[in-house]
Amino acid sequence: MPKVLVIHGPNLNMLGMREPDVYGTKTLDEIDHMLRQDAAEMGLQLEIVQSNHEGEIIEAIQGAYERAQAIIINPAGYTHTSVAIRDALAAVRLPVIEVHLSNLWAREQWRERSVTAPVCVGVIGGFGAVSYLLALRAANSIIEKRA
Ligand code: DQA
Repeated sequence: MPKVLVIHGPNLNMLGMREPDVYGTKTLDEIDHMLRQDAAEMGLQLEIVQSNHEGEIIEAIQGAYERAQAIIINPAGYTHTSVAIRDALAAVRLPVIEVHLSNLWAREQWRERSVTAPVCVGVIGGFGAVSYLLALRAANSIIEKRA
């Protein structure tokens, strides 16, 4: 069964109570549950990691090398700053889909810049929890094409 690594970056463990007007009311557990349901229907295996630490996120990405077929990542605040996460994503040479709950281009101007997006196949944002489900579809379609 093909494996997809899902990485949730910093502060996403606070979903549900964190700025619900921006990020919605679903908790991370609820999002993960929806993802697992859809993944089972698609015949995909999921490994899900949440971390508030840049180094841990980098280690999770490196660990996907030769073990996963795609990565879905919401780098959260690190989207805008982390050259190290960007470099790790480039290093493992897997198809990466970047996800955001909110629409980065409808918010503060500094959120418009993603340092990680250039090493991703594409970016999905603005649809709340559904952004993750769309990313899973995209990952599945990439994996199917490569099989
Ligand atoms: C986010 C957007 C980022 O700008 C922010 O720092 C987050 C969440 C999103 O999912 O909309 O933590 O990645």
